[in-house]
Amino acid sequence: MAGGVIASSGNRELPGKLTKQVLFCTFIASFGGFLFGYDIGISGGVTSMDDFLEKFFPKVYARKHRARENNYCKFNDEYLQLFTSSLYLAAIFASFLSSMFSRKYGRRWTIAVSSLFFLAGAFLNLGAKNLGMLIAGRLFLGLGLGCANQSIPVFISEISPAKYRGGLNIVFQLLITVGIFIANLVNYGTSKIKNHGWRISLGGAAVPAAILLVGSYFIVDTPASLVERGKKEEGLNTLKKIRDSDNVSEEFNEIVRATEVANKIKHPFLELAMKRHNWPPLISATVLHFFQQFTGMNVIMFYAPVLFQTMGFGGDAALMSAMITGAVNMFSTLISNFTVDVVGRKRLLVAGALTMLTGQCVVGGLLKQYLLSTNSVSHIVSIVVVIFICLFVFAYAWSWGPLGWLIASEVFPLETRNAGYFFAVGMNMLCTFIIAQAFLTMLCNMRAYIFFFFATILVIMTCAVIAMLPETKGIPMEEMMDRTWKVHWFWKRFYQNEVDAEVQLEKGKPAA
Ligand code: BGC
Repeated sequence: MAGGVIASSGNRELPGKLTKQVLFCTFIASFGGFLFGYDIGISGGVTSMDDFLEKFFPKVYARKHRARENNYCKFNDEYLQLFTSSLYLAAIFASFLSSMFSRKYGRRWTIAVSSLFFLAGAFLNLGAKNLGMLIAGRLFLGLGLGCANQSIPVFISEISPAKYRGGLNIVFQLLITVGIFIANLVNYGTSKIKNHGWRISLGGAAVPAAILLVGSYFIVDTPASLVERGKKEEGLNTLKKIRDSDNVSEEFNEIVRATEVANKIKHPFLELAMKRHNWPPLISATVLHFFQQFTGMNVIMFYAPVLFQTMGFGGDAALMSAMITGAVNMFSTLISNFTVDVVGRKRLLVAGALTMLTGQCVVGGLLKQYLLSTNSVSHIVSIVVVIFICLFVFAYAWSWGPLGWLIASEVFPLETRNAGYFFAVGMNMLCTFIIAQAFLTMLCNMRAYIFFFFATILVIMTCAVIAMLPETKGIPMEEMMDRTWKVHWFWKRFYQNEVDAEVQLEKGKPAA
């Protein structure tokens, strides 16, 4: 994504209404988010299906059905974890490559390529005959995911009128949660189909992938990307089309100006690494995504059915409970749409973390007390556990979920925005990989204490947000440096040289 441009309007508001074209393009592109969510939601469900386990993971299948197998360890298998996590390794690799591909060939092509990867992955999984084919399918899905996550949020930002950018961006996160929920529904249905139900679950990704592929033919490329690639006239015409107006010269000039600045930076990655003043947003956005993943949310998203079976729920009840958490996640995301620009980012992050902390502690406490190695928990305890897991999901959905992506996209100055955003995406995928790969082993070794592990991280991240993260609500992106990092009690030291230089200039002396 290096080299992408998000046109800025400074303090002025550029005219621009919410046209059908913009809505259509946002909706189609967000199918990339849907596929992200579908992959997240589907893996937990199929890995709890007996037919699937028997075919690909016979050892886990046997262990699961051994009456006296340790509750916390029955799903612990490195290949089972590799099935879930392999996708995210491929995604890191693909998002780096697609950052360059997208600069050269545009967002629309990157989106089309991502849908082809998704299709290939879905078909490989649909017809999987052995573990190799299954993992290969996951790797292709990961390549699709990397391209999609790297290009789609920028695509949406670049076509959006400035004042609707935040809301339209959250459509991407919303479709992630819709994808997770639909995956839960599909799993619930296919788990009742003997022998091949899991194939429908995994192959189902082909449907949204096909929509994304066909849709990518009908969407526009972004004016900024066209201008950046020297297609100025096409860029102007596209802008007129998506704004449904001929009166776009002010916004177009803004895009051209922003592109010129961004094009001067030939190596945004180097710029980011070498210049101290780029570090505060880089560190903050990257650490934010580390924390987002270490809330433990994906443990629930990936392994909810497995987790519920661990507690002694039957297969059906486990999938049903996963559907409930999926629905809570989807509907609660809408809350952030309406609150983020009113109460501010920091308050939502802190309130969300404290609510999640309550959820993790209660779940950990109950399981520690009632889930011993080889029993099942009582009905009432299970219900209370599900309620507190829902509380956790509810809080994540209006705080760390959408805000992780939003803050990472708004804190960088224009010239390093895309390269910086890559680090946030990369950190997200890396930590998703780590959680997916390590969770079942951690559960086996740490037992109920695993919930206290995540609770400890929640405490650390709450303190980190309070002390280290400046509030970015309502601050124009161009003023972000001056009004946040430069005046922050800790981060301001990274700008000391610049401040000294300005003082020197004011005194009429040349800067050192
Ligand atoms: C995260 C995903 C997570 C999802 C849950 C996203 O923001 O990046 O890892 O599974 O939210 O809704």
